[in-house]
Formats: sequence, structure tokens, C-alpha cells
Amino acid sequence: MGCRALLLLPLLSLGAATTIRSGLKTLGSLRLPTNPTSDPAVAHNYSVLYFQQKVDHFGFSDTRTFKQRYLIADQHWRTNGGSILLYTGNEGDITWFCNNTGFMWEVAEELKAMLVFAEHRYYGESLPFGEDSFKDSQHLNFLTSEQALADFAELIRHLRRTIPGAGNQPVIAIGGSYGGMLAAWFRMKYPHSVVGALAASAPIWQFEDLVPCGIFMKIVTEDFRKSGPHCAESIRRSWGAINRLSSTGGGLQWLTKALHLCSPLASEDISYLKEWISETWLNLAMVDYPYEANFLQPLPAWPIKVVCQYLKNPNVSDTVLLQNIFQALNIYYNYSGQAQCLNISQTATSSLGSLGWSYQSCTEMVMPFCANGVDDMFETYQWDLEKFSDDCFSQWGVKPRPHWITTLYGGKNISSHSNIIFSNGDLDPWSGGGVTKDITDTLVAINIPGGAHHLDLRASTAFDPSTVLLSRSLEVKHMKKWIADFYQNARRQS
Ligand SMILES: *[C@@H]1O[C@H](CO)[C@@H](O)[C@H](O)[C@H]1NC(C)=O
Ligand SMILES: *[C@@H]1O[C@H](CO)[C@@H](O)[C@H](O)[C@H]1NC(C)=O
Ligand SMILES: *[C@@H]1O[C@H](CO)[C@@H](O)[C@H](O)[C@H]1NC(C)=O
Ligand SMILES: *[C@@H]1O[C@H](CO)[C@@H](O)[C@H](O)[C@H]1NC(C)=O
Ligand SMILES: *[C@@H]1O[C@H](CO)[C@@H](O)[C@H](O)[C@H]1NC(C)=O
Ligand SMILES: *[C@@H]1O[C@H](CO)[C@@H](O)[C@H](O)[C@H]1NC(C)=O
Repeated sequence: MGCRALLLLPLLSLGAATTIRSGLKTLGSLRLPTNPTSDPAVAHNYSVLYFQQKVDHFGFSDTRTFKQRYLIADQHWRTNGGSILLYTGNEGDITWFCNNTGFMWEVAEELKAMLVFAEHRYYGESLPFGEDSFKDSQHLNFLTSEQALADFAELIRHLRRTIPGAGNQPVIAIGGSYGGMLAAWFRMKYPHSVVGALAASAPIWQFEDLVPCGIFMKIVTEDFRKSGPHCAESIRRSWGAINRLSSTGGGLQWLTKALHLCSPLASEDISYLKEWISETWLNLAMVDYPYEANFLQPLPAWPIKVVCQYLKNPNVSDTVLLQNIFQALNIYYNYSGQAQCLNISQTATSSLGSLGWSYQSCTEMVMPFCANGVDDMFETYQWDLEKFSDDCFSQWGVKPRPHWITTLYGGKNISSHSNIIFSNGDLDPWSGGGVTKDITDTLVAINIPGGAHHLDLRASTAFDPSTVLLSRSLEVKHMKKWIADFYQNARRQS
């Protein structure tokens, strides 16, 4: 594993029915169920609005402003006894989160809720300095979680003031992944703005030494181990095979061809190649959903099981092993049958703001990762803050502050807060940095056996495990209580 910044994944969309067909042909006997539900990523009815935000909420000399995009859907909103659900946008285009957070759309009627999706600054259209936003560290200086939370607080204030009937309604923050971290932190820092938060797959403890740095890779490995015999073992052995093959010119040529790479490998590309392969396995662990999905890539149901079909035998020659690895990678990169070649410069999708996240992980969001090759299937990789810091400095001209997030948000010492649900799927490698045990009566953990990255926030489908159905209904129960408490307190005070 190298030190490329891992992206927290936002919600994944279902569907891709058209591109899946050709993929099925290539899989031969592996017939997979197609998704019977309509694609939840289409035809949501929302309005797009903009709100003038301060570039810097925390100083008084800089008076520049920018437009923050937000979306509103109020079809089910009731001024009498209703609520406002605020999606605390993370590192990507907000329309995409809006389209894909099916859970919010599904509970809107029951909670008589107005849905608001607020875009995170420096992502989507909410660029403080337009095209110059990523130009240098001066322009990036206002990309912090604190500024983003302040944007949300200002936006809520604005909505309360300008929408008749919204002034006296309870607001609930909802988010997944980094957005889930923001939802939790928003409740902690602005408890007067929101009555509670649903933080789905939010690794708020993936910082400093709050959790072991190897836990993420361990969970990834466990997912592969459970998904097929000798699958994790085959992957563990593949690194040595790559090292041996790449030690000769002929071997490099052979690898380029066997892996169907877009451009020829040079020996200095090998660590990058191994990083790219590792990242593929990590991404698969996050999106190991029980149904076909299409976000990073179109993928079959339970994609790791499909990948593991090709990785049943670790005791084969290096060349056979690598040919099998190619078949496995091809599930991730070519399920649609559209890929001409595999491009080791690409793992994720352009819908994610990878530049912004790279900067954030080089400043506040410093998440230590490591691997030891024993508890996990990866090559040994030690967390080296100094090297990480140097790399950040050469890329962005800034150095990370690894202690700041825990200083700011309390690390594990958060029991003075209230009304936060932390939900996690046990397949999701990010659950390792999440809150998976109740902290108090009102800081509660919901664990979802068989769930990958924020499965609970996705639209429901016929393939959802019963565990996620239960989780969603528990989440609604908590939210209803927060809303009822809010109205009860309001009555008492009047
Ligand atoms: C969208 O919602 C607005 C009200 O919020 C409503 O007037 C309009 O008819 C809706 N459009 C569709 C296509 O449902
Ligand atoms: C979200 O859905 C709308 C309407 O269906 C569509 O126009 C828009 O492109 C979608 N956004 C993304 C990022 O997929
Ligand atoms: C692979 O070989 C090792 C060592 O020879 C052996 O212990 C292991 O059981 C073999 N695994 C399989 C799946 O054949
Ligand atoms: C992707 O799949 C298609 C259809 O099976 C195939 O023609 C193509 O060669 C594959 N691409 C790669 C890189 O293997
Ligand atoms: C590989 O991906 C990089 C980064 O997105 C892109 O610039 C390049 O053109 C791609 N190469 C091919 C052959 O598609
Ligand atoms: C949390 O509390 C423990 C015990 O008092 C302390 O050692 C630790 O530094 C605290 N962490 C933070 C982030 O304040």
C-alpha cells in the first residue's frame, strides 16, 4: 500500500441495467439477479438554490463571499408538526448525493420533512474562487471542516428566516462517510441548530492512534476471506509474483500484456501498479452490496464473491496467478464490457472531488493506514507521518496537522454530546474507525451485519438484508423521538 489519499466514498447509485447486459455474457454461468426496483438515482423533484456564504467565517478582514449550492424538496413537508432533514454534503457534487440518498426520500412523508441537501464548499458548483479554487494553498486555505460546518449553520439560519413555517421546526443532520462525520460533528458543535444527527459509516476515529492503523486493511481482507476459498491467500501471494515477474524486461512486457494495461510498465511503475491493484480491492470492499450497483464502476451483486471465483487457487505459477488476478480486476474495471484496456491512473470516478479530498487529507483529515501482510493480505506498509507530510508539502505546499481533528472534535471523549446515531456495516472497512458501541443512551451505535459502506442511506431494494431494514426503522424511531421531544419542549416553553 502506498500513501495515496483514500477517498471516503459517497453514496453509490443503483441501476446500470443497460450496461450490465453485455457484462453478464462475459460471466458465463455466473447468472446474477437483476435489480427489480426502479433506478432511485433518477427523477427526484427538487429545486436548486444558491446562498451567499462568507469565504472566511472565522476572521473579519476577509469580506469575500461565494455561492453555495443547495437543493430543496418539499413535497412532503408540513408546517404543522413537520421537520427538516439536512444532508451535510461531503466531497462531491451535491446533486449526486441527493439523487442517491434514497433513505431521505423514503422517510420524508413519515417525518413530514423538508429535504435540504447542502453542498460542501470546494466541491460541485460551490467553488469559492471558481476555477482558481485549487490553484494554490492561498486559495485552498478555506477548505476545512470547520468552515463547512459554519456554512451549514448559516444556511439553516437563512432557511428558518426566509421560509414561512420553517422557523420553528426541528432540523436533523444526515450524512454518509465524510458527510456522516460532518453530520455528527455538526450536532456536537451546533447543538442549537440541529436536534440530532444520523452519521452513517462515519469513521470519526480513524485519526491518530484512536484505532489501530491496520484495522481498515484487516476488514478488507476479512471480506475477501469470507467471500471465497483461498481468495485472500491468492491476493496475498500475488505481490511476490508481481515482484518476481517485474524484475526482468521480458517480465514487465508480459505483465503489461497479461493485465491488458493501457501503457507499457516500466520497473519504476511497479509500486504504483501494486497500489492501484490494492486500491481496487479496497474499493470493492466498500461497495460489496447485495445487488447490482453502478457508481465507481458498474458491478454485479456481491462483487467480491464474483471476483473470488477467479482466485480459488493460490498454489499456481506466478503467471497463472497473475492471469487470475487480471480476471478478477476485470470484474471491477470491465463488468460493462466497455473497457479497451486497464488504466492504472484510474480507480474512482470523476463525480468525486479527488483534488479537494487530497488537500483535505493533507491538512486536517490525516488518517493513518498500515498493513503487515499477516493480519491482512497486503504487502507490509508502515504509516510514516514524516514521509506523508513531505509528500503533502510537495503536492500542496502545506503540512498536515494530525492532532487537530481530535483536538477540535474530542477524539473518543465525546460523551457530553447527545442525539447522534452512528451506523456501520460490518463489511465496510471504514467501520474500523467508526463508533460501533453505544457511548451513552443518546449516542447510539447501530451495526448492520452484511452491510457495506452506508447501505442504510441507500434506497431500499428487494435484495436488502433484513439487518438493514431493521437499522432503517431504528433510525426513524430515534428521529421521531428527537422531533417529538423538540415539540414537547416548545410547548412547555410557550
Ligand atoms: C415538484 O414539486 C413542486 C412543489 O415542490 C410541484 O409544484 C411540482 O408539481 C412537482 N413536479 C413534479 C414533476 O412532480
Ligand atoms: C441527478 O438527477 C438529476 C435529475 O434526474 C440529473 O439531471 C442530474 O444529472 C443527476 N446528478 C448526478 C450528479 O448524477
Ligand atoms: C498451498 O501450498 C501450501 C504449502 O505447500 C499448503 O500448505 C496449502 O495447503 C496449499 N493450499 C492449497 C489451497 O492447495
Ligand atoms: C472488456 O470486455 C469486453 C467484452 O467481453 C472485451 O471485448 C474486452 O477485451 C475487455 N477489455 C479488457 C481490457 O479486457
Ligand atoms: C488513463 O487515465 C488518465 C487519468 O485519468 C488519463 O489522463 C489517460 O488519458 C488515460 N489513458 C488512457 C489510455 O485511457
Ligand atoms: C480524552 O481523555 C483521555 C483521558 O482523560 C485523555 O488522555 C485524552 O488526551 C483525551 N483526548 C482528547 C482528544 O482530548
